[in-house]
Amino acid sequence: MIPKSKFFLVLVLLFAMISCDNQTYKQGRLVYERNCMNCHMEHGEGFQNLIPALKDSKILDNDQELICLIRNGIDTKDSEEKVQPMPGNDKLTPTALSNLINYLRHEYDIKPTVLLPKEVEHYLNDCNK
Ligand code: HEC
Repeated sequence: MIPKSKFFLVLVLLFAMISCDNQTYKQGRLVYERNCMNCHMEHGEGFQNLIPALKDSKILDNDQELICLIRNGIDTKDSEEKVQPMPGNDKLTPTALSNLINYLRHEYDIKPTVLLPKEVEHYLNDCNK
């Protein structure tokens, strides 16, 4: 039989592991709340036909397109749909972007893949070409 104190220690360790694992998503959630939630809403559901939902967005899977979209925004001048333009955001560092994207994929992607800050940096360099 496992002594009680050991059992407790295992519980504490397990808890620490779980909270550690969530840390990156927590950071990403914060970036989301500060930069995206005003428009895309609390659970990424979007708003009527003005703001698209992030859930089920095909762009989430596309590293290059997603990163440039967040950096440069979307200009809808020529669009016939009734959506608004999305402003760009040049304040987010590669680390913030990586946390944000990993969070979004964790929430809304069936098969989330992870992006490292280094990879984000590489994609950012290709945005304005
Ligand atoms: C001022 C409001 C606003 C903010 C802030 C905003 N967005 Fe958007 N976003 C929009 C609108 C409007 C569109 C649709 C533009 C279009 O399609 O022409 C859009 C489109 C998108 C799309 C494409 C969805 C699809 O499948 O068509 C993604 C992904 C996205 N936004 C992510 C983000 C992320 C991540 C952030 C935070 C860094 C963010 N947005 C901040 C308004 C906003």
